[in-house]
Amino acid sequence: TDLTAFAHGLPKAELHLHLEGTLEPELKFALAAKNGIELDQKTVDDVKASYDFTDLTSFLAVYYPAMQVLQTADDFHDLAWEYLQRAKAQGVVHVEMFFDPQAHTSRGVPFAEVITGYRRAAVRAQDELGISAELILCFLRDFSAEYAMATLMEALPYKAWIVGVGLDSDERGNPPEKFAAVFARARAEGFFLTMHCDIDQVGSIDNIRTVLEDIQVDRIDHGTNIVEDPALVDAAIAKGIGFTTCPVSNSFVTDQMKSEEIVSLLRKGARVMVNSDDPAYFGGYVGDNYVALAEQAGLTATDLVQLAINSFEASWLTARRREAFV
Ligand code: HPA
Ligand code: ZN
Repeated sequence: TDLTAFAHGLPKAELHLHLEGTLEPELKFALAAKNGIELDQKTVDDVKASYDFTDLTSFLAVYYPAMQVLQTADDFHDLAWEYLQRAKAQGVVHVEMFFDPQAHTSRGVPFAEVITGYRRAAVRAQDELGISAELILCFLRDFSAEYAMATLMEALPYKAWIVGVGLDSDERGNPPEKFAAVFARARAEGFFLTMHCDIDQVGSIDNIRTVLEDIQVDRIDHGTNIVEDPALVDAAIAKGIGFTTCPVSNSFVTDQMKSEEIVSLLRKGARVMVNSDDPAYFGGYVGDNYVALAEQAGLTATDLVQLAINSFEASWLTARRREAFV
């Protein structure tokens, strides 16, 4: 339709995208064959049949085991490169991509393999696709704060390749304050900060308050529960906080796109935009997410343009580019 063509053609930044969440079944089989790994599933349909998510936990239970096929720098490169080509086809001109190094180092894959492979794809995206691509190192919040700090230390030699740090995985029992010292150190090292505040988690409004007031993040991933506290919304708008929402992902992990919350933030002038989260698992890349939200909430072309503008304003592009010129 016209809406789809418009949404896909709109130049946009993607700010909430987990590279490990872009592993399509076809690449999973190809990498398993290359690395001599036996998979439980035999066909693409078997893999897709296992995508039966009702909440974040059931998603994560499928997401982590699939990563065993990722072993070498070439594998990480191939994963990111396939994503970047799909992103290009849906109008992405700038992307800040999450990666989960601990999902790999915890199973014996060296940090250097992970980051050098991803970085090679990011540089190639600039050269061959005209996309500026940055990496955001995400700590897994269900591991210890000590392991997160050790991962941050391991990343410091690669600082020039990492624009910011984030926090993902299971929020239950792993509140933001657990990582206060890690994020303070990351800030001191010059990284931008973001944290997942997943939808409808127990205590999510308290976690949102903590990440804004104590951790002092630059962005919040998801975070749409903030609408429960209008004063906090106003404070976030005053600070220019970005909200990286993911409507199609929301509809899997909560049964709803949370379109009312997203549109409420948009109408109030918050820096909210739309992203794909884990597109291989939720079945929609970023342009598809713009279309899904627009259809659900009756958005106009002007609204979609505002979301795209917000995606650039909430990005960390400007600061990085400015540094490159001084
Ligand atoms: N939330 C938490 N952990 C994740 C997500 C998410 O949206 N995607 C990948 N890991
Ligand atoms: Zn996410």
